[in-house]
Amino acid sequence: MKRTYCGQIDNENINEILKVKGWVNTRRDHGGVIFIDLRDHTGILQIVFNPDAEKIFDMAQSLRSEYVLEITGTINKRLEGTINSDMKTGEIELIAEQLLILNTSKTPPFKINDEKTNEDLRLQYRYIDLRGAKMQDNLRFRSKLYNSIRNHLSDNDFNEIETPVLTKPTPEGARDYLVPSRVHKTNFFALPQSPQLFKQLLMIAGMDKYFQIAKCFRDEDLRADRQPEFTQLDIECSFCDEDDIINLTESLMKSIFSSLVDKNANLEFPKITYKDSMEKYGCDKPDLRNPLELKDIKNLLINTEFKVFKDCINNEKTRIVALNVPNGSTMSRKNIDKYTELVKSFGAKGLAYFKIDDINNIDNGISSPIKKFLNKEEIKDILNVVNANNGDLIFFSADTSDIVNSSMSALIHNLGKDLDIIEDGYKFLWIVDYPMFEYDNNTQQLTSLHHPFTSPSEGHTDEFTDKTLSRAYDLTLNGNEIGGGSVRIHKKSLQLSVFKALGLSDEEIENKFGFFLKALEYGCPPHAGIAFGLDRLVMILMNLPSIRDTIAFPKTQSSACLLTDAPTEINASQLRELSIKTNKIK
Ligand code: AMO
Ligand code: AMP
Repeated sequence: MKRTYCGQIDNENINEILKVKGWVNTRRDHGGVIFIDLRDHTGILQIVFNPDAEKIFDMAQSLRSEYVLEITGTINKRLEGTINSDMKTGEIELIAEQLLILNTSKTPPFKINDEKTNEDLRLQYRYIDLRGAKMQDNLRFRSKLYNSIRNHLSDNDFNEIETPVLTKPTPEGARDYLVPSRVHKTNFFALPQSPQLFKQLLMIAGMDKYFQIAKCFRDEDLRADRQPEFTQLDIECSFCDEDDIINLTESLMKSIFSSLVDKNANLEFPKITYKDSMEKYGCDKPDLRNPLELKDIKNLLINTEFKVFKDCINNEKTRIVALNVPNGSTMSRKNIDKYTELVKSFGAKGLAYFKIDDINNIDNGISSPIKKFLNKEEIKDILNVVNANNGDLIFFSADTSDIVNSSMSALIHNLGKDLDIIEDGYKFLWIVDYPMFEYDNNTQQLTSLHHPFTSPSEGHTDEFTDKTLSRAYDLTLNGNEIGGGSVRIHKKSLQLSVFKALGLSDEEIENKFGFFLKALEYGCPPHAGIAFGLDRLVMILMNLPSIRDTIAFPKTQSSACLLTDAPTEINASQLRELSIKTNKIK
């Protein structure tokens, strides 16, 4: 008799004798009859132990949650009134004839599938947590996603090639995880922040089209969408440019959606420049499902007498913006205060507003703490620019561009969620024309916005500034950055000038990138690529609250593994072997 999966049994199987295996989900003793809900990865099946099956009835009384069983019996149609329409197998049950207890279990520390379980406890007992239907779904989806990606890329002549995990630092902007070398005392390997340089070397090596589902390691501050150890789909192609990578990405996303998400999804991939995105949304990963947008109003306030705005007028590093929240005028004082606290947490000094009851009556139809400081022309111009209507609420922010952008994009995000104005579905957006560099005020030095192997835009000069544009592109989905890449520098001289613009000394350049510059001297083809965060992609496609729900064995917010208790101290002899002294060793 072949083994059958619990969730796959239905009315068709009535009167068949079947064997099922799985875990005890629940046990109910109904005075004389014992019911077990048996669970495997496909679902749950009700098992009935009748007292007349004497041999196994006593055994059934000893069963507890998470015992592992093999049961043989006959599939029966449930009696009218005992049908459970909430269950996939709710019309049938298995009348047990044979029972084998394959293993017992201690009482689990939490109930499987209970959404209220504390996450630390779930992570500590991850093997039990993963038995739940939702986590099973997430990991199975991830596995199917990998298959779909591999199929699409191998159909398009891409080669899957692994690159080293013990390597040299790659500058992706985070701290490195370091691994001491026993053989080369006092020297360290770095775990890759990405396979960036190796994939470029593979292009120099003539591999033409490369991909890898690669583990990356970054020691950075964690958030809900970041892990210290995460997985990229890493891609690189020779003799291609941004349009080739963009087209490849769009065809890949369409094939993923059609096989795994929604066959009929009408996916669009609009593009916006980095500059426009910052102006309209205050960030470079806007959620296009959210209709709220910023409008610049500085040019309307050139002669304003209102001090808060006036202070910004002659300073080009500032912005004054207005944000129209349609139908927001009934927002309570308490909520406005809450949003004021939110923007203040980003350094903003306040959150002025207009509540519009009657747009044609500026004196009595608009309430605002700042109206008295503005003249009627200014007010009218503002209302016009934000396309205001009766019932709207308009927020204002005036500050350095950095503070306006970070605080107002957070405000847009929070208002979107709180007011429930975010559309359903999926919205992609390409961000293009990124600046090459940012100016770091602390070090008074240019730093790369992407990484230093990104090509400057065509027609650039060697005078690099924070205005120089690059050939980088990012893909966002529903307000999350899911991928980023660029056309690369393939000439040694240009790569050297970029390193120099970043303030690297000749010695640093040689130590860090000498091997790579040497490779650029041996016929490097033009090439471009991209990498996608697969954990993030699963999180968005499965609509999960945290990246940890996409990973079988994730780390906590403080970069620890609660299951294995890593990282741990290592013993003195291991440290000695590695020539490492810690301040705990005497
Ligand atoms: P980048 O640093 O933008 O580019 O990374 C690519 C994508 O990886 C995801 N990602 C992360 N996901 C989870 N946790 C993290 N800590 C984390 N950091 C990044 C994001 C991001 O878009 N070598 C370049 C790519 C290239 O130029 O081809 C790179 O790594 O979704
Ligand atoms: P004040 O003059 O500090 O009493 O502020 C008057 C109103 O303007 C209050 O509603 C403040 O929240 C708001 N406000 C103050 N500074 C700013 C600013 N830089 N940007 C936007 N609104 C502000």
